[in-house]
Amino acid sequence: MAPSAYSQPLVDSTAIFKPDLFKGKVLFCTGGGSGICRAMTAAMMRHGADAVIVGRKLDRLSQTAKELSEATGRTCVPAQADVRQPHTLKDAVATATDKFGRIDFVICGAAGNFLAPISGVSENAFRTVVEIDTIGTYNTIKATLPHIRASKGSYIHVSATLHYRGTPYQAHVSAAKAGVDALSAVLAVEEGPHGVRSNVISPGPISGTEGMERLSPKGSQTGHFPGTPAGRMGDVEDVANATVFLFSDAAAFITGQVLPVDGGTEHLRTQFLPYPQAVLDPASVRSLISAKL
Ligand SMILES: NC(=O)c1ccc[n+]([C@@H]2O[C@H](COP(=O)([O-])OP(=O)(O)OC[C@H]3O[C@@H](n4cnc5c(N)ncnc54)[C@H](OP(=O)(O)O)[C@@H]3O)[C@@H](O)[C@H]2O)c1
Repeated sequence: MAPSAYSQPLVDSTAIFKPDLFKGKVLFCTGGGSGICRAMTAAMMRHGADAVIVGRKLDRLSQTAKELSEATGRTCVPAQADVRQPHTLKDAVATATDKFGRIDFVICGAAGNFLAPISGVSENAFRTVVEIDTIGTYNTIKATLPHIRASKGSYIHVSATLHYRGTPYQAHVSAAKAGVDALSAVLAVEEGPHGVRSNVISPGPISGTEGMERLSPKGSQTGHFPGTPAGRMGDVEDVANATVFLFSDAAAFITGQVLPVDGGTEHLRTQFLPYPQAVLDPASVRSLISAKL
């Protein structure tokens, strides 16, 4: 039997949430110049927020800021900084507060990745990934926290699902993202009484991103993906929609959580049975197993 052509729909957040949801609010996003974090920023702006996007490559940041401002009618400002260098992040925060007078939301999304086994990854390369992902998140929290306390705002940290199991060639990122998850949980507990929330979004593989380009086998990025419960690859807009929800007051009682946006992949174990064939057409696997069908 052919696998199901069913896949979960991909909707725009404006079809669900109010267009002025974040009017008067300001987002500070590291990694916002490209990929997933760019889409997260775009969605926040579509719902009325202004934004500051942070990265090392000013040309790309400036181009993205221009495109997002034109597409949404809101203001997006580029701020060049390296999340490993706290003084550059402080300047980026000053850019945000000078321009907008406040910061309400922070996305810690800047990250580095490459494929290498533990036996091959150098100490320097391992340290660099931890410095960008984990220490960069810590630096971003430190630089923005006074403003987020003042606005009773909220953090989203962009992690991954790799470290829930042993993912080959990803020891460095697994260690770094586990640290990010831990930081967010402590932040939620320590800052909750100050009115601050902190959550993690953990994307599964997201098609069309630089991350997937670098890490996945050529030709594996297709929209229809029957081997996941949701029936397709993730899209940057799936992560953007989760962002809008988690930053909204609809998530006011949600803090310290990790939200995988992976179409259910993390819960799937398929050692013995073909999937989704075994659930869509149980009779077709009768010859393989002895089960009460
Ligand atoms: N793509 C996926 O399928 C996937 C899956 C799971 C998790 N994620 C996570 O999602 C996030 C975005 O990934 P992506 O695939 O969209 O990759 P991406 O486009 O390469 O985004 C990474 C961003 O981080 C910035 N950055 C890197 N090092 C930095 C530094 N030292 N200081 C400041 N900014 C820095 C980059 O800008 P500059 O180069 O200008 O600095 C870039 O805009 C990452 O946290 C990644 O781990 C992605």
